[in-house]
Amino acid sequence: MFLAVTGFAQIKTSIPHLTKINGIEQLVVNDKPFLSLGGETGNSSTSTAEYMRPHWAKLKAMHLNTVVAPVYWELMEPTEGKFDFALVDSMLFNARKQEMKLVLLWFGTWKNSMSCYAPAWVKKDVARFERATTQDGKRHEILSAFSQATLTADIKAFTALMAHLKQLDQKQQTVIMIQVENEIGMLGDAREYTDNANKAFAEEIPATLSTYMQKNRNTVMSELKKVWDDAGGKSSGSWQQIFGTGTDADEIFQAWYYARFAGQVAAAGKKMYNLPMYVNAALNHRNAKPGVYPSAGPLPHLMDIWKAAAPDIDILSPDFYNPRFKYYNDLYVRAGNPLFIPEIHFDSSVGAKAMFAVGHYHAMGFSPFSIESLSPGAEPLAQAYKLLEQLWPTMQNATANGKIMEGFLLDKANPVDSIQIGKYKVKVSHEHTLSWSSGAKDSTWPVVGSLIIQLSDDEFYIAGSGSVFTFTTNSPSAVTGILQSDEGYFRNGIWHVTRRMNGDQTHQGRHVRIESDEWSIQKVKLYEY
Ligand code: DGJ
Repeated sequence: MFLAVTGFAQIKTSIPHLTKINGIEQLVVNDKPFLSLGGETGNSSTSTAEYMRPHWAKLKAMHLNTVVAPVYWELMEPTEGKFDFALVDSMLFNARKQEMKLVLLWFGTWKNSMSCYAPAWVKKDVARFERATTQDGKRHEILSAFSQATLTADIKAFTALMAHLKQLDQKQQTVIMIQVENEIGMLGDAREYTDNANKAFAEEIPATLSTYMQKNRNTVMSELKKVWDDAGGKSSGSWQQIFGTGTDADEIFQAWYYARFAGQVAAAGKKMYNLPMYVNAALNHRNAKPGVYPSAGPLPHLMDIWKAAAPDIDILSPDFYNPRFKYYNDLYVRAGNPLFIPEIHFDSSVGAKAMFAVGHYHAMGFSPFSIESLSPGAEPLAQAYKLLEQLWPTMQNATANGKIMEGFLLDKANPVDSIQIGKYKVKVSHEHTLSWSSGAKDSTWPVVGSLIIQLSDDEFYIAGSGSVFTFTTNSPSAVTGILQSDEGYFRNGIWHVTRRMNGDQTHQGRHVRIESDEWSIQKVKLYEY
């Protein structure tokens, strides 16, 4: 992991990597924990340098520190074996100019299930690069996970990319993480039906999987456990003997082979340049059966399979185009999987969700989609990012010193949350729960988000929007009071106070409040009387 050893003293510089600090997985960049305040570009936006040119400065103005952007196999290797890194270089140049980082998306064999970014020489050579077929014999523009030729070609291109990044970027560390493929998932059926796929399906499950299942019999995730138990809980046999004769077995089988493919691509890339790597998932609809949604991707119910088959993939990530934000995040952080959100549909709730994701899940990155199509200033995202970038050093201190940090996401259906911090019970309510708030009677309330960071027993930072904090203890004899609440900001890491909030703004000392249309930080000191 350590690179440069020079002179008499050893000067060590690590490349971007993941590490645990006080039990919390962190992304380390330029030797410091890094919170990626990102945005993902539209799919076609980085396919010319010209299109992105006006957007880089705008993204910086929106308080992004990371741009999440595709590298297209077809444009990087238009002719087999001849690589063109001009687009990658242009992204490196522009990101560096704005002092931003990059997460690169390898649009290789798969993009949203399909293989639309495979080079023409791959697409046109169906004999060499086999296509996935469904049970009805239909051939799709989806490259088969069972094709060694496709795997070899993808690895060759991907390792060329990683070698290029190593050569150009390991000192500066502009590229901090890599997404391997994009939203892998079988369409039409839960698995492929090529001859190779059918042959593999008839075989015993691979020894690695069988060992994993036996070793983790009591800890595999509930979804897999149910399928396994329902089929009799055997630890060796064919896919259908172990996972039953329905589409669950089909999907688990396909997930294993997708994960093996992506895992081998990641492993080869890491051998060249060992950056953190993740895969992203198109989340399935509630109660939909395998084969109906893009199946076998790194979905919550398949996490065991992906982890067992692809140990070189560091993170399984959700893409959010549905509103069940807490539900899916709770699933994705199981078994120590860190949270990195590479895509989320851009709407007025993203700022609140960013606060919550960082505060509650210690998310290492957040990234609304099609970021360059938005105008700066109007969006709550910039406001949230502005607070998060100021608070990041304080969050780091809190993590390193075992202090508590928590995030809150509130709306009309879920207007109240709470947490115990030391002796204080902290209740957090949507600002519209105050009967006098201007939106209290509105039929819909905005989604609001906030977080709290413990500084000492009686001191906290509170940040975000639209939230009201009250504090109590269990003590029968003492009442908790707000000694002072100061609104302020950090400049160069130093806290500056803009307002003492002890009058109307704290309801004369009864609560700490951030209005729904405001984004701010307050430093709060409590006492008892
Ligand atoms: C999710 C994909 O990962 C993106 O590349 C893009 O296609 C979006 N969907 C569009 O909503």
